[in-house]
Amino acid sequence: MNIASLNITTMKSLSDEIAYRIPRLPAPSPIVLIGSGGIVQAAHLPAYRLAGFPVAGIFDIDDAKARNTAAVFGIPVVYDNLQELVKKNGVEAVYDVAVPGSAILNILEQLPDHSFVLIQKPMGENEAQAQAILELCRNKKMTAGVNFQLRYAPYILMAKNMIARGMLGDICDLEIYVNVYTPWQLWKFLYSAPRVEILYHSIHYIDLVRNLLGDPIDIYARTIRHPKMADLHSVRSNIIMDYGDMVRANILTNHAHDFGLHNQDAYVKIEGTTGAIKIKLGSLMNYPTGIPDRFEYVLSSPEQAEWKQLPINGSWFPHAFIGSMAEIMKAKAGEIAIPDNTVEDCIHTMRCVEAAYASASRLRNTPSL
Ligand SMILES: NC(=O)c1ccc[n+]([C@@H]2O[C@H](COP(=O)([O-])OP(=O)(O)OC[C@H]3O[C@@H](n4cnc5c(N)ncnc54)[C@H](O)[C@@H]3O)[C@@H](O)[C@H]2O)c1
Repeated sequence: MNIASLNITTMKSLSDEIAYRIPRLPAPSPIVLIGSGGIVQAAHLPAYRLAGFPVAGIFDIDDAKARNTAAVFGIPVVYDNLQELVKKNGVEAVYDVAVPGSAILNILEQLPDHSFVLIQKPMGENEAQAQAILELCRNKKMTAGVNFQLRYAPYILMAKNMIARGMLGDICDLEIYVNVYTPWQLWKFLYSAPRVEILYHSIHYIDLVRNLLGDPIDIYARTIRHPKMADLHSVRSNIIMDYGDMVRANILTNHAHDFGLHNQDAYVKIEGTTGAIKIKLGSLMNYPTGIPDRFEYVLSSPEQAEWKQLPINGSWFPHAFIGSMAEIMKAKAGEIAIPDNTVEDCIHTMRCVEAAYASASRLRNTPSL
């Protein structure tokens, strides 16, 4: 579709054509979960329920948590240990590893060669761990992907669809802005983590920018603490992803805006030479309840450009989690050769994260990284 034909395309048909639809896989493999924490309960399991992905078993070092999660979501088997889970499932299941970054490598070592695995982000706690994860996956001939799921959020898939149709022209400006209050206390492990904001949050945006624009030439960053959240490594970041002098890609986050909802905001704005999209990330605001998302677009017009809104059939949480698991399932079924979120690609997101911390540490007054 080009801009001329778009003039006769009604908003209704555009809305239908780019609408997000839950992927339906003909024969989804059984999933076994390792980890039953907050994100598994809030997003993985609700997503799999929506998509009809069967969950065959679960294990967590906190057995009570695993049993409680299994009861809530009707998971038939709770394993007492990882060895038992592996013995029972072999290479038949998809392993869904959802534990803190520091625990990933040890778990992967215990999974069977040739297995299919989805690894929760981050891919380890730094580039060295990411590299070790990559090499382990290669040595064990695993088909492994990382759960950088913002790539598959319904509103991002809609935006990608419009970009692929050429509706926005050449993409030349990408801005991700987050000014919210994030209750970090929900993630206890972050209080001992040597890195926080970029590694555990802005990493999603870095991955998204890479997914849309490819790898940057360079990264410049500043990531800092906040007086009222001083026991966390950093909670605010400014990241510039350098794509030369025609494309701007900036990520600005402040998770310490504890002044009510009135001026909280979180959006992804994509501008091209002939159109733009602005997506409100409602789930980040008033966290964890969230507020509605919004998808707006505008196309260049000889008259006055007019912003229009399109409906979104889903949100980041949980729908995007269907996309990352679907990639592993499709690879297992032989529908695709490698998942889009393969560790071979996601290592580059980790390298960008490392470059951001390296840049930040070159600046004065940055906490030791
Ligand atoms: N959007 C996202 O993709 C998103 C959002 C939140 C969290 N996460 C990631 O998910 C991971 C877990 O986050 P969470 O919010 O569920 O944390 P959580 O603290 O609520 O849960 C982590 C769980 O992992 C279990 N665990 C730890 N080590 C284990 C091991 N060796 N074997 C089995 N179980 C183990 C813990 O007992 C705990 O139940 C983190 O890496 C985090 O970055 C991703």
